[in-house]
Amino acid sequence: GLPLADAAVVEHTFHVGNLTVNRLGQRQVITAVNGQFPGPKVEARDGDTVVVHVVNYSPYNITIHWHGVLQRLSGWADGPSMVSQCPIRTGGAAYTYRFNITGQEGTLWWHAHVSFLRATVYGALLIRPGPDKPHYPFPTPHGEATLLFGEWWNASVVDVERQAMLTGGAPNNSVALTINGMTGGYELAVRHGRTYLLRLINAALNYQLFFKVAGHAFTVVAADACYTDPYDTDVVVLAPGQTVDALMYANATPGRYYMAAQVYQSLANATYTAATTALLRYEHHDAAAEAALTLSRTKIVMPIMPAFNDSETAQGFYGSLTGLLPDGKPTVPLHVDTRMLVTYGLGVMPCMPAQTLCNRTRGSVAASMNNVSFQLPTTMSLLEAHARGNVDGVYTRDFPDRPPVVFNFTSASASSNRSVMLTSKGTKVKTLRFNTTVEVVLQNTAILGSENHPLHLHGFNFYVLAQGVGNFHARSPTRSPYNLVNPQQRNTVAVPAGGWAVIRFTADNPGVWVMHCHLDAHLPFGLAMAFEVDDGPTPDTVLPPPPPDYPQC
Ligand code: C2O
Repeated sequence: GLPLADAAVVEHTFHVGNLTVNRLGQRQVITAVNGQFPGPKVEARDGDTVVVHVVNYSPYNITIHWHGVLQRLSGWADGPSMVSQCPIRTGGAAYTYRFNITGQEGTLWWHAHVSFLRATVYGALLIRPGPDKPHYPFPTPHGEATLLFGEWWNASVVDVERQAMLTGGAPNNSVALTINGMTGGYELAVRHGRTYLLRLINAALNYQLFFKVAGHAFTVVAADACYTDPYDTDVVVLAPGQTVDALMYANATPGRYYMAAQVYQSLANATYTAATTALLRYEHHDAAAEAALTLSRTKIVMPIMPAFNDSETAQGFYGSLTGLLPDGKPTVPLHVDTRMLVTYGLGVMPCMPAQTLCNRTRGSVAASMNNVSFQLPTTMSLLEAHARGNVDGVYTRDFPDRPPVVFNFTSASASSNRSVMLTSKGTKVKTLRFNTTVEVVLQNTAILGSENHPLHLHGFNFYVLAQGVGNFHARSPTRSPYNLVNPQQRNTVAVPAGGWAVIRFTADNPGVWVMHCHLDAHLPFGLAMAFEVDDGPTPDTVLPPPPPDYPQC
């Protein structure tokens, strides 16, 4: 968009360093921003410019990603390590992220985008309506609260990652879920008769979550900072990376209620079914009324949570969301220039010599998309190579539009689909001409480990046209039709285990944009690919040169 006359510059300095915290009765040194966990909240309006100076005093190299920010012509500020930049080195190195908020409103977040560091390096990024359109497309709430869901380990997360890589895919289960960084004890005070906008963010590394508040219902109004048609529900489902804006009505009998987040896994035999709670507490304007409330204080009501493997509830939630049309007009591009079918999931590769704890018979877990296990470059970022116009030795442009072998879910056993799982390493991108449209069918193979891989695309929101379980059949009469009128828009789609989703977007942002699984262990295993988008024809559609302090490897 055009810069607005009264747009502001929102400026922060992030000092990344060690922080000692106590959780679950143990002291733990974590990496954190400005001594806060979760990190500082960044608040802006649509049209604002955000400037964040990151100074790295932590023992690890770091980058920060602004999850869901479109980064129009500002790919240098996107943040994924070795995709958009080399990391900011330990020992006090600095880099300034500078980007405009262009046509976005709602709840997003920021997080470290190197190794497992985002486990503790994250915070909310809230975008309010801009000065030219100061209202929400729903009744203005009386108040709001941001709930960041995370995970906790009684260990250094860098060690946790190292262990996962050495074993070639051993579980890296956390010991607890957190709400706003706390393993218990978070409280939200509300007043009777008021409406609150809950900004819900799943910052967990590994787990999709159900969220409920006992005795209270919600109206979902946005997902991934894209407005939805109002959707009434008493349960919210969030995959890692996803956000939901939901209005909550404080209209229950004044008292205390538990809010709860609980792991959702489609595996029938899941072993990790953790939950965490926080308190919703009614408070009163005057002391007498407050005292009267004490009576009801003895009992705290727990929400009745769905079963940990209640896929019907999860798919019901995702399938019910539709996008709110700006001015009532559909915006989905109807012409498709590039069609892709991408099968993806966990596969196997022979153990690497360095993987000393790898099971030699089973092999090591290698995740892939169209059987390419994505390798990050080491000498310079993909974006820098792209901008230099010489990508030799950094990446190749042969990411396949289709998988080499057709996956068959009806015989989805490891043996019958062995060729589906065999992967090879590569740094392959798919090149897209500026302003062309792309449709990608994402098929989750779910042969090893039946997880709902949440796929996150950097630099774009996409329309989710259809989703389902089993094999995707383009012409199946039983397949639900594409929603080309008001599909939800997202930056992260939770593709069901053994299921599929169809996404479509317009490649109108020049640069290199990674698409990857937001279950953190799956990124180093290679569950990623990248889109390279050419510059457009006019000066305002060309990626500018990198900023002067752009980190080098
Ligand atoms: Cu929220 Cu590439 O990540």
